[in-house]
Amino acid sequence: MSAGPVLELEGVDSGYGEVQVLEDCTLQLDPGEIVCLIGPNGAGKSTVLKTAFGMLSPWTGSVRYHDREIGGLAPEDIVREGIGFVPQTENVFGSLTIEENLRMGGVARDDDLEPVLERLYDRFPLLDEKRTAKARNLSGGQRQVLALARALVMEPDVLLIDEPSAGLAPNTADDVFADVQEVNAMDTAILMVEQNAKKGLAISDRGYVLDQGTVRFEDEANGLLDNEEVSKLYLGG
Ligand SMILES: Nc1ncnc2c1ncn2[C@@H]1O[C@H](COP(=O)(O)OP(=O)(O)OP(=O)(O)O)[C@@H](O)[C@H]1O
Ligand SMILES: [Mg+2]
Repeated sequence: MSAGPVLELEGVDSGYGEVQVLEDCTLQLDPGEIVCLIGPNGAGKSTVLKTAFGMLSPWTGSVRYHDREIGGLAPEDIVREGIGFVPQTENVFGSLTIEENLRMGGVARDDDLEPVLERLYDRFPLLDEKRTAKARNLSGGQRQVLALARALVMEPDVLLIDEPSAGLAPNTADDVFADVQEVNAMDTAILMVEQNAKKGLAISDRGYVLDQGTVRFEDEANGLLDNEEVSKLYLGG
């Protein structure tokens, strides 16, 4: 496998209908990294993930996965390539059990799901204990873990995660971040959007600040945390 980026957006414009959101957006994710994408509400962070995952086609520019152009492929093809996506909202089916949610995550696999599910149950004991519980009866943090596990059923080497800590109490958010780090340690590169920029950067290798659809700053995570301008404009002082 090449040593280059596992995922790369280069000069991407993208948006909804006639409405342009991303403008000349360039960013990359290297093997083994956690990269955090921060920026104000409406900056286009979710749009970056949706464009990388094929929910939106880039208008111009390139989306590459391991050097292969994937811009314009449909999500079901991108998932088979090896990219997983945990959306910001509605990322589990409340009326289905945990087990059913995990099986839904594996519909694009044609091999035996059982060993994959058992490995996930080993890694996330709380899901193991609640296999037959409906997802709607889980707490917010447990739901986020289920959403993460659901994306892992395809065993992606790139995971896109949109605001894993949204709506969670601080301690619960810390637990979810710890799970994100653990997933990363199992050889999954992660591009994560986080509203909680300080905590998101704290577990990341590098970060990008997106504003009005364009990357304004990029640096090692510590560099962004120490940058006075970034701090004043985007980290709340
Ligand atoms: N489905 C859609 N149709 C039309 N416009 C949309 C759609 N989704 C998002 N937008 C617009 O695109 C812009 C960027 O939205 P996006 O969701 O990417 O921002 P974000 O950085 O993720 O914001 P947040 O922090 O609120 O999640 C916003 O102006 C938003 O109103
Ligand atoms: Mg968003």
